[in-house]
Amino acid sequence: MEEKILSIRRAAREAVSSDATNLKELDAVRVRFLGKKGELTQLLRGMNQLSAEERPKVGKLVNEARAEIESLIADKTAELKSKELADKLATESIDITLPGRHAHAGRLHPLTLTLNRVKEIFLQMGYTVEDGPEVETDYYNFEALNLPKDHPARDMQDSFYITDDILLRSQTSPVQARTMERHKNNEPIRMIAPGRVYRRDDYDASHSPMFTQVEGLVIDKGITFGDLKGTLEYFLKQMFGEKARMRLRPSFFPFTEPSAEVDVSCVMCGGHGTDCKVCRGSGWLEILGAGSVHPDVLSMSGYDPSVVSGFAFGMGIERIAMLKYGVDDLRLFYDNDVRFLNQF
Ligand code: DAH
Repeated sequence: MEEKILSIRRAAREAVSSDATNLKELDAVRVRFLGKKGELTQLLRGMNQLSAEERPKVGKLVNEARAEIESLIADKTAELKSKELADKLATESIDITLPGRHAHAGRLHPLTLTLNRVKEIFLQMGYTVEDGPEVETDYYNFEALNLPKDHPARDMQDSFYITDDILLRSQTSPVQARTMERHKNNEPIRMIAPGRVYRRDDYDASHSPMFTQVEGLVIDKGITFGDLKGTLEYFLKQMFGEKARMRLRPSFFPFTEPSAEVDVSCVMCGGHGTDCKVCRGSGWLEILGAGSVHPDVLSMSGYDPSVVSGFAFGMGIERIAMLKYGVDDLRLFYDNDVRFLNQF
């Protein structure tokens, strides 16, 4: 019996140290020796056949054997677990010295940036921001702006007609009439209206069949051309810096009288003009159209020109963005090449 127990202990030592190379194999070893049908357990079962004085002796030996095997298995379990962890760490390790992947953040389009700045400047002066449809009626796009059918000035803007009466708006000026109609009793108005406009123009470095305008309209008692001048001068200095100067040239628009074209001192050469490609030597850049609101435009939309007066202006956002950022081809704004867009 003693011999048997010793040989089981030896076999168990051998099995734990060489048969069990992983936790699964170790568990098989445990079952083989300590399990319900294991070798030691079988020995214990046979104890009742032993004599009374032999029993405690053998019982002691079996318990010692069991204790040894259990402790061998416990040690081996710990060893295999730490080996498994080390293997896992080695195979799943991350090389933290590899360069990371860049997440490309989006950004605002230069036209949006410019538009936001224009809005900000006028919002600070108490203007509201109005909206109007891009598919417009002939009435609002032309007639309400003092351009009856067959008026020669309609040729100034070659428009996209959808039916005889409906077109893609060729300017943001129709929002003037729409906003005036929403007011009663000569209520004062101070608004801008940004938006897309459409014209049958070629697509080249300075033209596009679709572009962006911001319209402005101020109506109140006693508004003068001087208010227009002061407002635009303030706007241009905010937009292009304190050094920017402004110049008004007489012009014609059917909806304003008198009308002016507004120039800003060249943002490239500062107005010197010498050898400047941007202003072609003149020192000035045309930037917007403006004027005092024509009395007929006021009365057509429900205002009484003997009580109130107003001024209006309209500017192209692409042109302002080109000057502000030194962009020399308008098409860059629409190509959406990220190499261009990333620069803003
Ligand atoms: N609507 C004009 C255009 O597209 C721009 C303009 C000029 C708007 C004078 C105005 C203005 O409000 O008073 O060419």
